[in-house]
Amino acid sequence: MHYKIAPSILACDFAQLGQEVNAMGAAGADWIHVDVMDGHFVPNISLGLPVLASLRKATDLFLDVHLMISDPLSYAPRFCDAGADQVVFHLEADCDPAAVLSVIHQKGKRAGIALKPATPAEAVFPYLPSLELVLVMTVEPGFGGQKFMEGMCPKVAAIRQQCQRLGLELDIQVDGGIDNTTIPQASKAGANVFVAGSALFGKPDYTQAVQQLRSHAAQNGFN
Ligand code: DX5
Ligand code: ZN
Repeated sequence: MHYKIAPSILACDFAQLGQEVNAMGAAGADWIHVDVMDGHFVPNISLGLPVLASLRKATDLFLDVHLMISDPLSYAPRFCDAGADQVVFHLEADCDPAAVLSVIHQKGKRAGIALKPATPAEAVFPYLPSLELVLVMTVEPGFGGQKFMEGMCPKVAAIRQQCQRLGLELDIQVDGGIDNTTIPQASKAGANVFVAGSALFGKPDYTQAVQQLRSHAAQNGFN
């Protein structure tokens, strides 16, 4: 299995955004993870549509947009138009998830559903045949630099098992507190896409940091 590494720009120097992102691409990162926070769904504000549009012009890398916002139905199509390759929204947002998945797919983009730590695995089961990725949050969404919640690993495993039962090869992504120590636990449970902010940006050697994360993921992978 190819483990994907998705650096989260939340941890980068925003004054150097284009260079930072392309440096991660040159270092071997698979996706760029873009955290969008509205100050309502989560108690923090990060960035929005104009920043994504600028990023789209600055790189050809796959842009993975994580919407931590209350109204994904209104905004998901606009993030698709601004250059997202994939839009992931929260099941806990104020929306009909099937309708949001449908608008993202109508735009020709990949769609994913994210789960906060308190949301059980079973909540996403009805949607598995209609999406490309499930994001299991391994911290409370809203801030970088928090501690990985090991208790989320059984949730990852339950979702992976349900995908296997249904014959689906979905991506399962983890986000929050991922580093060389925690990534093996997440990959063993069944995750194959790993978001990392503080474990990558700020490191002196991005190539080495990406390679180390990938090899620690593979060391303990679930298949
Ligand atoms: C948290 C964000 C994460 C965050 C991860 O709400 O969704 O993507 O940037 O940061 P680290 O890797 O530092 O925990
Ligand atoms: Zn995120």
